[in-house]
Amino acid sequence: MAQLSILIHPDPRLKKVSTPIIDINERIKKLSSDMLQTMYQASGVGLAAPQVGVLKRLVVMDCSNEEEKKELILINPEIIWFSEENASFEEGCLSIPEIREEITRPKLVRVKFLGLDNTVKEETFEGLWATCIQHEIDHLDGKLFIDYLGSLKRSLITRKMKKLKKNLSRKI
Ligand code: NI
Repeated sequence: MAQLSILIHPDPRLKKVSTPIIDINERIKKLSSDMLQTMYQASGVGLAAPQVGVLKRLVVMDCSNEEEKKELILINPEIIWFSEENASFEEGCLSIPEIREEITRPKLVRVKFLGLDNTVKEETFEGLWATCIQHEIDHLDGKLFIDYLGSLKRSLITRKMKKLKKNLSRKI
């Protein structure tokens, strides 16, 4: 396994629509285990392939807060149903470090996806899991959680991130 570097907003790759995975080959399997390792290392609960610069529809997540890991790998995930009822969570993103904002989304979602074993699966998510999978699928469509905020707040955060990136590149 290898740790991957995570793209920080603003980056044009985070704005692109990712393409579906047609062949679940060894490269995809390696990428998903590298992404899981990278996510755990960064103390994140979800990571989408475009965040590591790969424009493919692949998401890893683990929203369990227990010691026991409950990792999920979702290939070509698609929301097939969502509840009328909404829920708000304070969201963060590994591509937008240190920023947390409350975002409102459907409370429950049903998602269809492929597993690494190439079988079609369906699962209903709720709570933090529902928020997380919607946040990650947004990444596959080039959308960030700050896109749900007002433009003033969004540009303030973007400015902060530009500064952070400048400081990071100075350190290297
Ligand atoms: Ni994110």
